[in-house]
Amino acid sequence: MCGDVEEEFAALADPRFYTQALKELKSAFPTAKLKRIAQDSANSIILLSCEDCGYKHGTAYMFSYVYEIFPVFTFVKDIDAEYYTVIENVLDIISVLGAKSFRIEVKKIDYKSKERAKDLEVKMGREIESRGPVADLKNPKLLINVVLTSSGAIIGSQDVPKIGGLDAFRYFNKLDAEHINRSEFKLIEAIEHFGVEIKKGERCIDVGSAPGGWTHFLLSNGAKVLAIDSALMDYDAMPPQSSILIVMQDPSKSKPFLKAENRKIELKSVKEFEEYAKKSNPFNYYDLVHVASNITSTSLLSLDGLGKFGILAIDINRGPEEAAAVAASLCTLLDPGARIIMTIKMPESKPEHYVEEARRALSGLTTEVKFAKLRHNRQELTAFAIFNASRGEPNL
Ligand SMILES: C[S@@+](CC[C@H](N)C(=O)[O-])C[C@H]1O[C@@H](n2cnc3c(N)ncnc32)[C@H](O)[C@@H]1O
Repeated sequence: MCGDVEEEFAALADPRFYTQALKELKSAFPTAKLKRIAQDSANSIILLSCEDCGYKHGTAYMFSYVYEIFPVFTFVKDIDAEYYTVIENVLDIISVLGAKSFRIEVKKIDYKSKERAKDLEVKMGREIESRGPVADLKNPKLLINVVLTSSGAIIGSQDVPKIGGLDAFRYFNKLDAEHINRSEFKLIEAIEHFGVEIKKGERCIDVGSAPGGWTHFLLSNGAKVLAIDSALMDYDAMPPQSSILIVMQDPSKSKPFLKAENRKIELKSVKEFEEYAKKSNPFNYYDLVHVASNITSTSLLSLDGLGKFGILAIDINRGPEEAAAVAASLCTLLDPGARIIMTIKMPESKPEHYVEEARRALSGLTTEVKFAKLRHNRQELTAFAIFNASRGEPNL
């Protein structure tokens, strides 16, 4: 890229997965010198320097444990004494890159200051704007990252930030659209990280669907959903235009517990549903069919009338083998090439062990399995793979 010019990058990772992040950075940039600049309970920041690193836009998507990486423009050592140097540097970036508009994002990592990152961001943004550049919070031509640490400010720019940018939690909290829970954000992140396209009318299976974050996201994006969970879902929170059917052993017993005051939902017993599915595909009429039972105890999935599905999403709070066994039990319902997204529960130590176990368990069913520690994953990773119909057997 730049011949013998030394380039610098800043990489951010969850400190619980620092060793894994370091390992993958070393493998992606073998010639780089790496140095951890700062760490707090939620973030580690690693500075990389190398000649001709091979960094391209979108590089962050190739990592499983690094959630963001961006080119560094400069490092200002004493932030308090040099506050205006930080401002000058930001002005320099905007002018060197000839950006027509900018947005600045400030993140604090182990930097002691009473001011919140958000307040510092507004203060810096106003100061910069007062010197000429145009601020555009929605569609800026240039995104400036300022990471404040106890050893100094790292200033860089970015034109393809990962969803949420430096502070995904702040970003997600202020999204306009309604969301049901943190789980929904995991799916939003996974869809972006693995580049999954949801087509209009795409048929998806959501196992471990309650209270309904993933289903809500899939329905809101035009999909039809077969949701499976013995727990009831938040039906009221689903998109208003979605037609909903709940299949349960005995609808008369569960009806009083349904949280669906503001919408019409239909209930069928398992027997009624079996009869119905023999005559017509339920998804010709319903957008959401919730089978209110555990995947292990439902016989409905062998029904021919359900047709095939293009996405299988599994979020059941279980380890790799159990999650892979669920995928295996559903493979007759999957389209060849169906996308499988699943969360894998694991203790913090030794994630590699769980990754290997998931890889092994899924290898008989899918093509290569990819993993990511998403911002909204806690004690878990998210796995992604493509169903390979010619295999069809898990390695359990
Ligand atoms: C983390 S919650 C899922 C959250 C959900 N994805 C959302 O977005 O709201 C895990 C769910 O998995 C369900 N679950 C656990 N084992 C299951 C199984 N074998 N079959 C179906 N659901 C299961 C639990 O009942 C629980 O509701």
